[in-house]
Amino acid sequence: MAHPAPFAASSAHDSPNGGSSGNGHTQLPLTPLPFTLDDARRIYRIDQWGTGYFGIGENGNVFVSPHGKKKGAKASPQVDLKALVDSLRQRGLETPLLIRFTDILKDRLGKIAKSFGKAITEHNYTGNYRAVYPIKVNQQNHVVEEVHLFGKEHGFGLEAGSKPELLAVLAIVDEDSTPIICNGFKDSSFIEAVILAGKLGRNIIPVVEKYSELKLILKHAKAHGVRPQIGVRVKLSARGAGRWESSSGARSKFGLFASEILEMMDELRAEGMLDCLKLLHCHVGSQINDIASVKRAITELARVYADLKKDGAGLEILDIGGGLGVDYDGSKSSTDGASINYTLQEYANDIVYYIKQVCDDEGISHPNIISESGRAMVAHHSVLIMDVMGWTAFERFRTAKELTKEQLAELTQPVATLYESYHALDEKTYRECYHDAVLARDQALSLFNLGYCPLKERAMAESLFYGICAKAHAITSKLENPPEEFSHLETQLAEIYFCNCSIFQSLPDAWAIDQVFPIMPIHRLAEEPTCRGILADITCDSDGKLDNFIGEYGNKPVLDLHPYTGERYELAAFLVGAYQETLGDLHNLFGDTNAVHVTVAADGTPMVEEVVEADTIREVLSYVQFDPEDLRRDFGKTVEKALQAGKLTLDEAKVLKDFYMSGLNSSTYLI
Ligand SMILES: Cc1ncc(COP(=O)(O)O)c(C=O)c1O
Repeated sequence: MAHPAPFAASSAHDSPNGGSSGNGHTQLPLTPLPFTLDDARRIYRIDQWGTGYFGIGENGNVFVSPHGKKKGAKASPQVDLKALVDSLRQRGLETPLLIRFTDILKDRLGKIAKSFGKAITEHNYTGNYRAVYPIKVNQQNHVVEEVHLFGKEHGFGLEAGSKPELLAVLAIVDEDSTPIICNGFKDSSFIEAVILAGKLGRNIIPVVEKYSELKLILKHAKAHGVRPQIGVRVKLSARGAGRWESSSGARSKFGLFASEILEMMDELRAEGMLDCLKLLHCHVGSQINDIASVKRAITELARVYADLKKDGAGLEILDIGGGLGVDYDGSKSSTDGASINYTLQEYANDIVYYIKQVCDDEGISHPNIISESGRAMVAHHSVLIMDVMGWTAFERFRTAKELTKEQLAELTQPVATLYESYHALDEKTYRECYHDAVLARDQALSLFNLGYCPLKERAMAESLFYGICAKAHAITSKLENPPEEFSHLETQLAEIYFCNCSIFQSLPDAWAIDQVFPIMPIHRLAEEPTCRGILADITCDSDGKLDNFIGEYGNKPVLDLHPYTGERYELAAFLVGAYQETLGDLHNLFGDTNAVHVTVAADGTPMVEEVVEADTIREVLSYVQFDPEDLRRDFGKTVEKALQAGKLTLDEAKVLKDFYMSGLNSSTYLI
C-alpha cells in the first residue's frame, strides 16, 4: 500500500537537503532520503531506554540481548523478539503475552551487586552490601523464586510488607543467612511469627513502623525466650524526589519521629535489650528521580545512625529502603517520573560515600548496607506483547474523490467550498484554506441539522475537512515555528489502534498515574512509520487507552506507527516488570495474560523454562463469586427451552452450548 506523506514527521533523515529558508519556514526536501534503521532507533529512543538489553536488528525487528551490553567481552547472544513471539504462538501461547527474560533479571541483580561492590572497594568501606527484594514489587511466585535463587550468590534477601507476603517469604527462604526484613504494619500474630522464625534460626528483622509494634516485639520475645534482632524506621525530614516523595517527611504514614526513637532507646535500655536494635531503616519513596535527594536523605539517615550507635544501640545495619529508579524514557533527567538523573554506579557511589563520610566524622565503624531496591531489579526483565486488531484508519481521508464540474455544481455551497479548499491547499495557502474549511464545516453541519444538506453530503464534508486537516498538518509539522492554531492537529488526526489487551490489567500505572513506558512495534522497523496513533484496549472504558509516549524530544501524545494492513502487527510495552502485575485489576473481567519465562542459550537459542497460563473465563467469573457450573446449567436450560419451542435447530443449540463450554475454559482475551 503506498502512502502519501501528509502525516510523516519532519525528521533528521529528510533534512540534509532541506534546511532553513531563513524566513522561519523549513524548505521541503528535494529528494527525501530513505528511511533507515537509525531513524527508527532515534524515533523510539530504544538505544537510550534499552540500556543494552533491547535494540533494533538489521532485519527491522526488535532484538533482546538478555545479558546486556558486555564491554570487551564476546558479544552477548541476541534473540529476535518477533521470531520468539511467532514461535510461542505456534505453541499455543497467544497474545497478549508477557515474556519474562530470566537472564535479564539475573543480570540486573549482578549489576546492582557489582556497582555496590565497586563503590565499597573504591571508598575503602569496611561494611558489606546486600539487597533485599521487596516482593510487593512483583509477587509472582516464579519471579520471587528466581530473585531468591539468583540473589543467593550475592547474599541478597527478601522483604515482606504484609502477612501474606511474610507467609510466602518464610516458605521460600530455605537457609539461615538470607536476610528477611519485615516492613509494613504488623499485628500481634505477625510479630509472634517473626520472633519464632528468628528462634528457629532465620536471619529475620522486624522493622518497627509504629511505636506499639515495639511493645509486641518485647512481649513475644519475652514469652518465647528470644533476643530478637530489631529494626526501626525513622521519619526523615529529607524528602524523596518524584511522584512518591510523600513516602517520607513528617507527614509520611510510616516510621517513628526522632523523639519516639529516643523513647524506644530508653525502653530497650530499661529492658536490657539495647543491643537488639540492629537496624535503622528509611524509605524516601520509589523512583527517586534526582540524586540530590538521595544524598540528603542518606546523610540525615547516617547522622541518626551514628548518634544512636554512640548512645549504645547495637546497630550494625543501615537499610536505605527502595527508590533506585529506572530510566523509562532514556532521557537521564530529573524533570519527570519517567526518568532519573543518575546511573546505578553513581547511586551506589553516593550511598557508600555519604555513609562513610558521616561514620568517619563520628568515629564509628561502617555499617553493613541494605537496600530494598525493587523496581530497579525487576522492571527490565518483562515485556508485554500485544497485537493490533484494527484501527480507525483516518488515513482514508487523506485523498479526496475527484468530482466533475457538474457534480461540484450540485453540491450544497459549504461542501463545495470544502472541496475547493482541499484542492487549493498548498504551502502558501494552507492557512487561508484551513480557516475557510473550519467555517464551511460548521455551516455544512448547521444545514444538515436544518434538513438542507443530505447525509451523503454531510459525510463528504466530514471527509474533506479531515483531508484538509491532514494536508495542513503535513505542511505545518515541517515548519520550525508552526502556527499555534495547528498544534492540535497531531492529536486530532491520530489514528486509534485497537490492541488486544487491558490497560487496567497489564499497565495499570499508565492509567492511574500516567506513567510512561517505552512502547513500540517489534517488527517492520525498516519501514517508515507514516502514521501517528494512540492505543486503545479492548475494555469498554474510555480510559482504557494509551496516549502518552516517549518521543525524541520529550513525551508526546501519539506514537509513530505503521499503517495497519490487516496482517499481524505486534507492539510491545517494555520495562513492565515492576508493580504492574499485582496492581493490575479485573476491569471488564480481563484477567492475567499468558506469561512465559525465557532463558537464552549462549548461541542465542531461546528456551521456554516456564509457562504460566492466562486466567480462564471460568477463573475470573469465580473471583467475582459466579459459580461457572451454575451458569453453565442455567444457560443449558435456556437453550433447551428454545430448542423445544422451535426457536433453534439441534445444530444451532449445539453451537451455542459448545461456545459456552469452550468459552468458560478459554482466556479472557480475544483470539
Ligand atoms: C518500604 C519500602 N521499601 C522498598 C520499596 C521499593 O521501592 P523501589 O521499588 O522504588 O525500589 C518500597 C516501595 O515503595 C517501600 O515502601
